[in-house]
Amino acid sequence: MLTVLDFYSGIGGFHFALQQLGIEYKVLQAFDMNLNANHVYKLNFPQVHINHLNIGFLKSAVLDDYNADLWVMSPPCQPYSRKGLRNGSKDARADSFLTILELLSNMEKKPRKIIIENVLGFENSDTFEILDKTARECGYIWQCYQLNSLDYGYPYSRPRMFVLLSLSNFNNCENDYKVSLEIPGFTKREPNRIESYLVHDEIIPVAREDLWKAGLYFDYVDSSSTRSCCFTKGYGQFAKGGGSVLAVNTNFYDQIVKEYKDIRDRMKGKEKWWEELGECPFERMQPRYFSPREIANLHGLKNSFRMDGITTKMAFKLLGNSMHIDVVHSCLRYLLHDLI
Ligand SMILES: C[S@@+](CC[C@H](N)C(=O)[O-])C[C@H]1O[C@@H](n2cnc3c(N)ncnc32)[C@H](O)[C@@H]1O
Repeated sequence: MLTVLDFYSGIGGFHFALQQLGIEYKVLQAFDMNLNANHVYKLNFPQVHINHLNIGFLKSAVLDDYNADLWVMSPPCQPYSRKGLRNGSKDARADSFLTILELLSNMEKKPRKIIIENVLGFENSDTFEILDKTARECGYIWQCYQLNSLDYGYPYSRPRMFVLLSLSNFNNCENDYKVSLEIPGFTKREPNRIESYLVHDEIIPVAREDLWKAGLYFDYVDSSSTRSCCFTKGYGQFAKGGGSVLAVNTNFYDQIVKEYKDIRDRMKGKEKWWEELGECPFERMQPRYFSPREIANLHGLKNSFRMDGITTKMAFKLLGNSMHIDVVHSCLRYLLHDLI
């Protein structure tokens, strides 16, 4: 049986992907300090013990005791994200991952396989250099993949980096230390239309004020679209929290933009100019946020996925932090080729 440690476990993205491999496995422990994420993880995987302490306080002897075959992890992405300052290892949020790398070096029973997920940009960071050095010194062969759920049949773009490390032969590949865009043996699929992922269970319209303030900055898609943008943890809070909004149809978008700009230009120089106005032209598209269940569908989470007791805002945050299950599944299948 494959034994697993699930670091930065969130709502369990790695665990859902493992489940779909159809192999015998046991998650020995999950680690995450976010209590809401742990609540969702526990709802879905009640058998797993979750440690809510800071990962930075772990010790190599403790990790040795688990003697796990596989480590899965998505360390915090803020130190590497385009939306942040990109301070890499100087950002305190990188500390716990750097600690893990140090612990790994000192361990006697190193995991045979490790998978790490992060945002694009991670591969150019100083943290990645430390990962590379540690991996080589510990005897791991590693490969790095930039993958996107859009290539997996989903109308949803979530580009992410995956670093796969193996102590043993890795599909007869040598280390080539470059980023590849496709998992070997994987066949790209054209994205479906968004309508297949909609359930219309929770209709949260985009507020009029937000449309007046930021109507130009939302990414509008409709049920016939075959793409949408990555939902981030700030989704649902104005246009800044990334992720597309769903319009009834986007056919008249250009006309609406023109009308909007005309009005905005007329109001130039006035503070809070929208307060004097009625309906915003963008309202004609009836834009609304995707519901948490619809986002879960776009993330490849099955109908059985549960988030009971979590507010919509928190659900947006947890899902925005999570991962695309099919993409992770393809990485695990490739990484664990000699074990499954
Ligand atoms: C990018 S999210 C990972 C999400 C996860 N892969 C999922 O599928 O939901 C990072 C997670 O790491 C947790 N985290 C960040 N720093 C941590 C630390 N030092 N110790 C424990 N958990 C931490 C956060 O609470 C967050 O849930």
